Formats: sequence, structure tokens, C-alpha cells
Amino acid sequence: MKVKVKVPATSANLGPGFDVAGLAVTLYNTFVFELLDEGLEIIGCPQQFCNEDNLTYRAFLEGAKACGLEFHGLKIECSGDVPYTRGLGSSSTCIVAGIVGAYAFVDRSEERQEILELATQIEGHPDNVAPAIFGGLTVSVMNDNHVTTLNIPVKHDYRFVAFIPPFTLSTEKSRAVLPQQLPRQDAIANVSHLALMVASLINGYDDGLKLGFKDRLHQPYRGTLIRGYDEIMAALEQDENVLGCYLSGAGPTIMAVIRESDKKGVVRMKEELGHLLKDWQVEKLELDM
Ligand code: HSE
Repeated sequence: MKVKVKVPATSANLGPGFDVAGLAVTLYNTFVFELLDEGLEIIGCPQQFCNEDNLTYRAFLEGAKACGLEFHGLKIECSGDVPYTRGLGSSSTCIVAGIVGAYAFVDRSEERQEILELATQIEGHPDNVAPAIFGGLTVSVMNDNHVTTLNIPVKHDYRFVAFIPPFTLSTEKSRAVLPQQLPRQDAIANVSHLALMVASLINGYDDGLKLGFKDRLHQPYRGTLIRGYDEIMAALEQDENVLGCYLSGAGPTIMAVIRESDKKGVVRMKEELGHLLKDWQVEKLELDM
């Protein structure tokens, strides 16, 4: 018996919602799991270890332990389009797929709350794994090992334009530059921006999004690690058809939110950003529901 698990890419933080907010987009990784009599075979994961250190395998092991699956050998086949170490949740696709794969063999893959909490333990924060499991735009709150996740209703006519640089940035490095403490004014700004962003999304108040996506907790520090970050963000801020822009997850991908009706948005932004986007990949994505 084989189990196939398809997991969407995710874009975490959404500016001020550091480790809290995230959304699933229409880029996917697919994993096929097959139980063997013995051994471990991993194929199609060129960016990762193909041994016991493989993240999907480690997540499968944790999942198997949690759901009571006994097995002797495993084959994992990976494929997909989620760029690796670019701030689009590639690690989360591996973690979620590994756990869901194990749970599927005992017919428990619908136990999403349990899967969420285990995935959050492995990842360390819920903002990528939650939308990868539930789809849409989520906010998640951790309380000890319990995770509360809610979907925020979002209009279907938003499009998410991902500016994906040719270079990688590890989450570890990107978290290491963050300060241990934050000035009170920055904390207040972030709380108010996150509240504005969520309220604007729920009420369909697009005018609240540009300010709502602004962040003072992580982006100013991480931006220094990303060539062209300040110029690209400034140009997107000035574009009156861009509803908001933010650093996707730990970066280095930058995300701009536009309306579906803005058909020329990608061409216009590419022109505005010109040479800054040399070798960058630009993907127009939809919310994965
Ligand atoms: N919230 C996480 C961060 C997402 O910004 O570090 C990346 O794993």
C-alpha cells in the first residue's frame, strides 16, 4: 500500500504576525510513502539528506510513534515546486507530509489537531505548519504544547506575488539576527498592525492592509541579510496597486499582495523593480484553500 500526501507552500508571519500568522499558497510538494519489509529508501529529495537525517523521515518516525504505526522499512518519493530555504515553508511540507503519511497508514490522517501539535513541536512554531495542514490564512497561538489555530476568512480575489531570490537564507541564520528585546513602541506598532491586518481581512477593508502588513519585530533586522531588500520594499510600498508587502517567513522571498483584477500587476512590478530582480523568480500565486 502507498500513501500520497500533497502539501502546499506557506508564507509565514505576514509582516507583524511573527510566529503567529501564515497562509497557504498554490505551490506544492508531493510525497509518496510505501512501507517496506526493511531498510530506508529516499528518492527525489536532492536538497536534503537521503538517510535517517531526512526531515520527512524524522517526521514520519515521530508520527508513527504518536499514532501507533509499526513498520520495518520505508520508501519515500519526493517531488514538487516549493523552493528550498526561500521562506516558503519547504521544511513544513516535509514535516507535515511525514506525520500525515504515518497517520494515513492507520487511517487517522483526519486527526488534524493532533497532527498540528506534533508538527509544531518539530518545527518550533506553528505559523507554517498550520496553514500547510488547514489551508487558507491562519492565526495560531501556542500555550504550552497546545496550539489553537483559526482560519481568517479572506476574499478569493487576492493574488500573492512572490519575489524569490536566487540565493537561500536559512531560518536559523535569519532568527539569529533578531534582538532579544524590543522597544515598547515597536511592540505596540506590531500589535496594532496585526490587529489592523486581521480586522481588514475579515471586513474586506483593503485600505487597511498596507499599514497592517508593516512590521518592526523582524523585518528591519532580516532585511539587512537580503540584497536589494530596502529598494524592493520601498518600490512596492509606493505602488498604489499593491495592497501590502512583507518578508515571507524568515526570507529571503518578498511577497506583494494585489487584487485579481490587477492583471498587469506582475509586469508592472517587474518594470518598476528592473535590475533589482536580476535572476529572481517571480510567481503569481493564489491562496490554497
Ligand atoms: N516564523 C518563522 C520565522 C517562520 O520567521 O522565523 C520561518 O520558519
